[in-house]
Amino acid sequence: MKNSISTFISAKKSGEKLTMLTAYDYSTAKLIDECNVNGILVGDSLGMVCLGYKDTLSVTMDDMLHHTKAVVRGTKNALVVGDMPFMSYQASLYDAVTNAGRFIQEAGAQAIKLEGGAVVCPQIKAIVNAQIPVMGHLGLTPQSVNMFGGFKVQGKNITDAQKLIEDAKKIEAAGAFAIVLECIPSKLANIISSNITIPTIGIGAGGGCDGQILVYQDMLNMFSDFKPKFVKNFANVGDLMRDGFKLYVKEVNEGTFPAKEHCFKIDDEILNKLY
Ligand code: KIV
Repeated sequence: MKNSISTFISAKKSGEKLTMLTAYDYSTAKLIDECNVNGILVGDSLGMVCLGYKDTLSVTMDDMLHHTKAVVRGTKNALVVGDMPFMSYQASLYDAVTNAGRFIQEAGAQAIKLEGGAVVCPQIKAIVNAQIPVMGHLGLTPQSVNMFGGFKVQGKNITDAQKLIEDAKKIEAAGAFAIVLECIPSKLANIISSNITIPTIGIGAGGGCDGQILVYQDMLNMFSDFKPKFVKNFANVGDLMRDGFKLYVKEVNEGTFPAKEHCFKIDDEILNKLY
């Protein structure tokens, strides 16, 4: 069944857990969509896990739209959320609404996500007023990596923890339908989750969130640059890929691939006329 923002809101009410994964291409989106995942985020993590940047700051609207279009083509049932890249919404409400609109109109996403608390609430309101569903994102918001001084757990002191609770309430009041909570203490995530009526989607925020999200390359052990503490390997796809690539090289070198069944035939009669 097609997931929508109503699925997310209902799940919060019924206590049913929500699942989300990231995807950046058609084939992966199709595989994920076959597995009853509620939502696919085309995350700006694209920059790190697909494009090889050290952080997400270099990702552009063109990058995001290109990959969101591919994911949308591979998705039937999951809610597709496009991630607003750095500087696509911070500078003005006009930028925010126009770029959010591009995710919907050009790429076919059903919602957008943006990072930040009270400071981006005017953007959230303006985008929602344009009839575009918004997912918030609090905690370790990677686009603020330079302000945070690195990829660090957030909300560990009283001021920061209090601010995260207030920010979550403000994001809800601004009209968001869900909030990603990234890399914050589990007990703080529980407090936030029980203080708002929209679902929290955790990544490194413990099991008390209303749903979970992971970057698919992390959970399949395909990304080896670093492994965050909150990631569990659900399958060793990285090893399987490596084994497959090595076997291919071996068989080509040995001359066992391609075999007869991989080759096309031509009539001898035609062949004989060639020489
Ligand atoms: O870009 C991304 O993949 C994200 C998730 C980690 C929530 O923002």
